Amino acid sequence: MASLFNYNNYLEYKFPEPQYLGAKYIHRGWIAKYIPNHVHTVLEAFGGSQSIAFLMKQMGKRTLTNDFMSFNNHIGKALIENKGVTLSSADVNILLSSNSNPNKFNLMESLFADLFFTRNDAAFADSFRSNVSRLDSPYKQSLALTVMCRSLTRKVTMGHFAHTQALNYASDPARIERNRSLIRPIKSIFLELLPQYNAAIFDNQEKNESFNENILGLLPRLKAVDLAYFDPPYCNSHADYQSFYHLLETFVEYWKDKKFVNGTKRYDPKRHSGFDKKSEAIEILNQLFALSTSIPIWLISYNNRSFPDVDTMVSMIEPYRKVTIEKKTYSAGRGGKGSVAGSSEILLICTQ
Ligand SMILES: C[S@@+](CC[C@H](N)C(=O)[O-])C[C@H]1O[C@@H](n2cnc3c(N)ncnc32)[C@H](O)[C@@H]1O
Repeated sequence: MASLFNYNNYLEYKFPEPQYLGAKYIHRGWIAKYIPNHVHTVLEAFGGSQSIAFLMKQMGKRTLTNDFMSFNNHIGKALIENKGVTLSSADVNILLSSNSNPNKFNLMESLFADLFFTRNDAAFADSFRSNVSRLDSPYKQSLALTVMCRSLTRKVTMGHFAHTQALNYASDPARIERNRSLIRPIKSIFLELLPQYNAAIFDNQEKNESFNENILGLLPRLKAVDLAYFDPPYCNSHADYQSFYHLLETFVEYWKDKKFVNGTKRYDPKRHSGFDKKSEAIEILNQLFALSTSIPIWLISYNNRSFPDVDTMVSMIEPYRKVTIEKKTYSAGRGGKGSVAGSSEILLICTQ
């Protein structure tokens, strides 16, 4: 069990600020209040940026985290599971050396040059990717992919890949003034971010694990989880994570056997989420709750503008758990998905 001493110790570590739709980073202090001291093993079922999994790790909990997107799992491996492996300057030299196999590693240039990045930047991403497997530990590899994905996200103004204005914006002085990353080489962004990531790696004396699965497949295999945090996509706003972050997934998976479709060159076919479609949301949430009955406490992040509405959600949970509703109202449009003024961030506290 986490002692206060450990808890205070780990709060020194700083999660590198995420840029991810629906990340609960800015709500972490609020969410922490509802994670009781006595719980030991916690599950972040929809890990995303891993900002809440990181909070759980800092609280000294044995942290299990999961996301069905591979690039999010690499963040989980690098920052949650990893107890102390960082990238040294020798590792960085490997990553920044020339393309180790240009015939194989040319996907970013062939798909995304002149679309999201300049040709030089896209070719740099390919050469970096070609060298990742030369690093001598899986945690180093995950960390390299994590920092690179964050650097690629910095390069595009809106922080996602569902629109293709970044290169246009990079020739607009007013936009450059607001966001210098538009004209900075990816390499320089990577080198700036890396120390923040290296400094965020610590050992909380627990066996933390990161998974890369559909949550419905993972839940039946998990044993002795004391608390689950559920932050599924909100089926009404920005729910299709694969459309927003397809480029990061393509960079990490380096698919050669998919089609790349639409103006954004999103990979196709997509993985099946279930939580992002109105026609499936209720059925899939019902399955999620039915599969979680062995976990005593559930915390569920929600929003008062989502589908199904909060009352429906509560009526779906009530066969299994008592529900208390905690609410935080946004005064300004900040905080990611659904965070328009007047909307509320909701936490459903579900106990036996
Ligand atoms: C609202 S975000 C989670 C944000 C996270 N709590 C944070 O602080 O960054 C929802 C996440 O669910 C993932 N996801 C969607 N469908 C999933 C599924 N069926 N199984 C597992 N993860 C899924 C998405 O990739 C996305 O990262």
